[in-house]
Amino acid sequence: MQTSTLTPQETPTGSITIEELPIEAVAETELVYHQLCLADDFEDLEGKPFHVNGTHLAVFKFEDQFYAVDNRCPHMGYPMSKGSIRDGVLICHWHHWEFDLKSGGCFLASGDDLKAFPVELRDDGYLYVGLAKGEREAAKRRVIDRGKRALERGLKDRSTFFIAKAVTALRDASATPREIIQQGLHYGAHKSSEGWSSGVAILTLAANLWDDVDPKDHNLFLVHGLSQISRRTTGSSRPYRAAFPQTSEAHDLETLMRWFRYFIDKRHAGAAERILLTLNDRDYEKSVIADFVFTAATDYYFTGDGHALDFANKMFEALDYVEWEGAHEILRPIVVDLVSRTRHEETSRWADAVPVLEPVFERLDSIWKENQANTSELDISAFTQTLLGDEFEPTVAIVEEKLRAGVDPRDICRAMTYASAIRTARFHLKNEGDWHDVANIYSYAHALYHAFAYAPSVNLLRGIFHGVVFLAYLRWLNMPAARIPRHGQRLDETYESAAKMLDRLQEFADFQKVYEAEILVNQYLEEGHDIDALKQTLAHILLREDAELHMFQVLEVAFRHYDLSEDSEERRMHMLAATRYITAQKLMKNILWSTENAERLARGELLSERDDD
Ligand code: FES
Repeated sequence: MQTSTLTPQETPTGSITIEELPIEAVAETELVYHQLCLADDFEDLEGKPFHVNGTHLAVFKFEDQFYAVDNRCPHMGYPMSKGSIRDGVLICHWHHWEFDLKSGGCFLASGDDLKAFPVELRDDGYLYVGLAKGEREAAKRRVIDRGKRALERGLKDRSTFFIAKAVTALRDASATPREIIQQGLHYGAHKSSEGWSSGVAILTLAANLWDDVDPKDHNLFLVHGLSQISRRTTGSSRPYRAAFPQTSEAHDLETLMRWFRYFIDKRHAGAAERILLTLNDRDYEKSVIADFVFTAATDYYFTGDGHALDFANKMFEALDYVEWEGAHEILRPIVVDLVSRTRHEETSRWADAVPVLEPVFERLDSIWKENQANTSELDISAFTQTLLGDEFEPTVAIVEEKLRAGVDPRDICRAMTYASAIRTARFHLKNEGDWHDVANIYSYAHALYHAFAYAPSVNLLRGIFHGVVFLAYLRWLNMPAARIPRHGQRLDETYESAAKMLDRLQEFADFQKVYEAEILVNQYLEEGHDIDALKQTLAHILLREDAELHMFQVLEVAFRHYDLSEDSEERRMHMLAATRYITAQKLMKNILWSTENAERLARGELLSERDDD
């Protein structure tokens, strides 16, 4: 036991602050006693706050004994020194949680305990409190652990307020975003029988977009994802599944792949899950596991409007972000997406695509072989226009030709993403309902780009052809095509600074002045203002609404492909697509638009003849 040399000081808040001067090194758990004040300074039942070497304490006198506890109530941080004592029970004066003064034990069954510290009254008449040398770190850890329990409760109760409180407490205690995202991912994957939900996808997007967002919006971003998770989970756990037992003779990958595809085909989720868990358990390369999932996601036509592949990509991004910690649970939901989502070869909408694509898929091995053997550059800008053609059959033939010539599949995916940005920017506000379709192809094309970087394969090529067909199907959503701001186009107003332009952008978003917002962004880009500030503003506009997954997806794709490109027109189109999608989605205006559209239709007007003005 050691005693520190002391420098007590009164603080403006009334706490007595005591900084420890250098002492000899002691073990982390060994107690160091710190002098507090004269025992005679206390009245019976009185509590005093102290701040000792970074630790907040509340010290009480009760029946001639002295007790010290953490001064921050584990409920919401109210100072315990302002509480009162009744029959040895310490009562917090904010929401009346009760604690055993001696041990800090909480009387509320689900409440957290207060940390208690030993106090000694010594011969010199002073009180001394014993703190472990590592107490400061331990206190931080306690707050983080408490915040995680509070977050779990908020998720179970589906309370956005409780979730927000827990996130704030965790971040204030210096919990890393990874710790919070990890907890949300695990909860979202484990406490649901559904597939990869929008909540876990948004949390992954929070990780991906962390540096693009104003730090003031970081908590908000986390709360968005966590709240959505709470709404998609019931609190009950997914049934337990395990990897196959270890054997002396390992299964070969070819067999496991064949089984995996077979069970996905038969919609036998449990069997497919066990194969994925076995791959993870046997420490196969991430790219091997990704190949299984991406292959199954493209075994069917544009599974789930592209969500199966998109969510598979998000899952691997999430796993990499948390360094595959908890992969056993995080891997499982994607199987639900693979077995249960729409397979478009079974739908009438895709009936004309199947006879065109099936012969191509029979030639897939030779296409891949030539692609790997040859090298060829792609003019992304020109090829983007090809992808926007009205008929998919000639485009499919050109894509096959490009692949055989050795064009990098990722460049085709980049062009597909660019084309999807144009589909989004030209999506007319008078279209009813189909906003998700343009977001789906945009996010899908980006996911495919990532998938080819992560686990390129012959089977993944099918995803390109699926995307090409869907892009052509979406031509109807650009009829009539919304106008895109002309180069040099300006609004009839002036701005004192770039910051004022961004303020104005937020105002336009408030009133869903979509075209004005686009013209303003166009001017901002052409004048070469700070792109990071524009990204932060667009993210803020999104985050202040009850945004749904597609808005987050569009934002991410726009930002990433803006960064990837050096072509000013391509960059402009990505930012205009994001601006249009985000400013047009304000929920309070949708009813108005729907009603206006319905009234115009009732009057016999043609919506296709209208313009944005
Ligand atoms: S802050 Fe102490 S009971 Fe709520």
